[in-house]
Amino acid sequence: MKIKGKEYRTIWFENNVVKIIDQTKLPHQFEIKDLKTVKESINAIKTMEVRGAPLIGATAAYGLVLAILENNDQSFLKRSAEDLIKSRPTAINLKWAVDRMMNKLSGINSEKILDVASIEAKEICEEDIKFCERIGLNGLKIIEGIYNKKKDAVNILTHCNAGWLATINWGTATSPIYHAHKKGIPVHVWADETRPRNQGANLTSYELNEEGIKNTIIADNTGGILMQRGQVDMCIVGTDRTLSNGDVCNKVGTYLKALAAKDNNVPFYVALPSSTIDWNIKNSKDIPIEERSSEELSKIEGVDEDGKVKKVKIYPNKSKAMNLAFDVTPAKYITGLITEKGICEASEKGLKNLFK
Ligand code: MRU
Repeated sequence: MKIKGKEYRTIWFENNVVKIIDQTKLPHQFEIKDLKTVKESINAIKTMEVRGAPLIGATAAYGLVLAILENNDQSFLKRSAEDLIKSRPTAINLKWAVDRMMNKLSGINSEKILDVASIEAKEICEEDIKFCERIGLNGLKIIEGIYNKKKDAVNILTHCNAGWLATINWGTATSPIYHAHKKGIPVHVWADETRPRNQGANLTSYELNEEGIKNTIIADNTGGILMQRGQVDMCIVGTDRTLSNGDVCNKVGTYLKALAAKDNNVPFYVALPSSTIDWNIKNSKDIPIEERSSEELSKIEGVDEDGKVKKVKIYPNKSKAMNLAFDVTPAKYITGLITEKGICEASEKGLKNLFK
């Protein structure tokens, strides 16, 4: 998608260097950063220079390519794979991508391993783009249906950033929105600010602005009243891990939006590529929920009047804070899952019908 009118992807490989858009700098600065070692890839994932489930998977895949470039040795590669998987706990795409790479690389001799790894990492990215595009075309039908009835702009609420910045291109939750916009269907997005890191404000609103899509940032607690007033036609969110029973783990606060949507008969959709499905964990209580530093809550970053980026403390010195980064929305609150293979019910039956 575009930034300042120029097409970008979120990650690419050039002259043995991985290039990323540093998302900790957005929206105030647009900086492309080089990753030259596996350690730098792990750090980029931990510090959220790259974030979003599919993108951290792709970064981990390229992290293994960098590991081979640094030290073409099986035990170094194995350790790197383990460290990459540990860099963030909740999104299953990370482990999925590392396992896929390691399966491909097992038994490959050291002369060929670099080529095989770079081709596979690129394939992971190309596949994600293709899947996100299909998610868009499948989700477009829902938006089109609402528009045909309403004959007015479709108001869509989203949480966090499941946009193209969280993937390689298109996004998951935003892909139907981009496809609707390209088709001339008027859409307006309510972007939940998404405290504490504000991915909705800093990233979703930013990328929609760059594509010319109308959007309004709202405080995380505003969705409920907008739904009661009939100002939300549908919700679409992304996910970091969807269980085979249809339960969805996503950015903290998603669950509360789903409850409000249910109470107000607002359709609540989750968009995901199959790389986000965890077929192993059966109980959502077993999903590892990331707990991040409480400083992400107590300190807030912004730009002052001179254009300087500053971080300021907003909490009382003595107060403790807790920063759980994800929650689980039970399948019963989800209207449907929008995947690359089609839309299905959020249930074991629904998912198994699509992904035999
Ligand atoms: O902590 P983040 O910014 O990585 O969380 C991102 C999300 O919660 C997204 O909704 C999710 O990864 C889906 S990405 C298409």
